[in-house]
Amino acid sequence: MKLKDKVAIITGAAEGIGKAIAIEFVKEGAKVVVADVNLELAEKTVEELKSLGGEAIAVKVDVTNPDEVNAMVSKTLERFGRIDILVNNAGISIQKPLLEMALEDWRRVIDINLTGVFLCTQAVARVMVQQGRGVIVNMASSLGFVAIPRRAAYSASKAGVIGLTRELAVELAPYGIRVVGVAPGWIATQRVLNLAKKGVVNEEAIKMMTPMGRLGTPEEVAKVIAFLSSDEASFITGDTILIDGGYVSYGGPI
Ligand SMILES: NC(=O)c1ccc[n+]([C@@H]2O[C@H](COP(=O)([O-])OP(=O)(O)OC[C@H]3O[C@@H](n4cnc5c(N)ncnc54)[C@H](O)[C@@H]3O)[C@@H](O)[C@H]2O)c1
Repeated sequence: MKLKDKVAIITGAAEGIGKAIAIEFVKEGAKVVVADVNLELAEKTVEELKSLGGEAIAVKVDVTNPDEVNAMVSKTLERFGRIDILVNNAGISIQKPLLEMALEDWRRVIDINLTGVFLCTQAVARVMVQQGRGVIVNMASSLGFVAIPRRAAYSASKAGVIGLTRELAVELAPYGIRVVGVAPGWIATQRVLNLAKKGVVNEEAIKMMTPMGRLGTPEEVAKVIAFLSSDEASFITGDTILIDGGYVSYGGPI
């Protein structure tokens, strides 16, 4: 088991990729805090983790709220006594053309996707610095590297996460803390599949723009995060790893 007895906080773990990470972590022996703004769903996820033989608790947190973030850290320490891994996974996307994007749309996306990473990392790093070890994994996106229309706030937030990951890795390395990013391409979560069904995203175009010809699965992202969080990745810090079936490498059909 890669993560035996490690204590991990995963934000946005009630559903989607975050839930897949929680399941993978439990299978690898970790004790998991399912930290999500949707407490009811987080509790359901915890029941599933327990049915797999895992140890897990649900904590309600809005990653943009410093008091709730501090409470998430306190509850984790109360229950498990330390924090080995933080996965900053919580994120949203608001898709609008630039000329229709309201300031509050922009602020909401930047607040959750970027400021949330700052707040959770700062609160958890205070504990990890005392421990003299820890791993932080930040959820970026292929759209932090390449652009498609209607994603001004989202792309900026994820490019920000990539820069913040580098910066945090440099600052926290002296304390034995690694900070890495992952940048998934198109992943078949319920949210993405619903957008495809509504015609908001074009599944066929995604497959065409992905050399491997398919969407990724949440489990494929979760397995990379489990590796990066484990001691097997002990010399990796600062980088953001693409998990995208070649999407960012591809220049398009000619
Ligand atoms: N699905 C993809 O194709 C894809 C691709 C690249 C990157 N990502 C990133 O992966 C992460 C997860 O995406 P997903 O597709 O699983 O999304 P999702 O919508 O399925 O799940 C997101 C989770 O985050 C929670 N959340 C939202 N706002 C929150 C807040 N303020 N505080 C705490 N929790 C909050 C939600 O309740 C939900 O449980 C996001 O950061 C997203 O940007 C997704």
